[in-house]
Amino acid sequence: MSSSANQLDQLDVEHFFKLVEKNIGIDLDLAKTYLITSRLTHIVEQHGFDHHAQLLRHLVTSPVNDLHWQAFEAMTTNETSFFRDIHPFDALKKTILPALIEKCQETREINIWSAAASTGQEPYSIAILLREYFPELTKWKIQIWATDISQQALDKAVSGVYNPVEIMRGLSDSQISRHFTKLPNGHYQVIPDIRSMVQFRQMNLIQDWPLMPKFDLILMRNVLIYFNQETKAKIVKKLHAQLPHADAYLILGSSESILFDKSFKVVQLDRVSYYQKEPL
Ligand SMILES: C[S@@+](CC[C@H](N)C(=O)[O-])C[C@H]1O[C@@H](n2cnc3c(N)ncnc32)[C@H](O)[C@@H]1O
Repeated sequence: MSSSANQLDQLDVEHFFKLVEKNIGIDLDLAKTYLITSRLTHIVEQHGFDHHAQLLRHLVTSPVNDLHWQAFEAMTTNETSFFRDIHPFDALKKTILPALIEKCQETREINIWSAAASTGQEPYSIAILLREYFPELTKWKIQIWATDISQQALDKAVSGVYNPVEIMRGLSDSQISRHFTKLPNGHYQVIPDIRSMVQFRQMNLIQDWPLMPKFDLILMRNVLIYFNQETKAKIVKKLHAQLPHADAYLILGSSESILFDKSFKVVQLDRVSYYQKEPL
């Protein structure tokens, strides 16, 4: 199979990238053409195309269908790890969760959303942190929603199974032994108690969110960077509506900022910042 990027028709690449942006928001330019050869090979092979250029031609000349969605999903970057960038998790432990526990004493309910949860390491890290440092919350109603556009990533997240390299990224030996079971094939599975704390759903951030409940804490990390400014601004507006009160929290990735939206204020802690609704 020939697969080199230089055989791709540049107009088809541009057209395909426009389709990606329209449907899932990811903004790609021609410098990212190599992603077509590196990420779509399995689709070329599974669906009997001769090469990437032929797949691309098919995609840009036919109405959007399941094959397109497979290709869009393959263009997502699912990089993640347990307790990624550790500082937000320190802030959750020392500042944010104690404040939310205080705030929610009456309802004894806290709703958390890990948006763009990829293969599950982020929501499971939150669940592990809750079990380790806030055992009193076992008597509370704690909901952790985890969503992503990639069904493949979500299937892995739901299984809670990670290979030895993934498990070593961010977890201590004692966390591994407390919260995971080693499987006969050498992989590790999150124990049912932690798995049952997280509900996974497929969701496209650039579509409307009619069924989303309100959340006391939203983590939307390392996904806004893939969107253009207009898409980002629309998502940030929707995030605002999802936070029920001025004491609710929004945490973004360390390189992301929404300072352009004046309806949020940024609060700087030691090594991390978070956002809250600017009171009206
Ligand atoms: C780099 S991962 C971030 C994972 C995790 N939040 C973290 O920081 O480790 C980005 C995730 O965003 C998801 N994503 C990209 N576009 C999306 C969209 N339009 N709607 C929902 N999720 C999307 C991808 O599937 C991917 O799993």
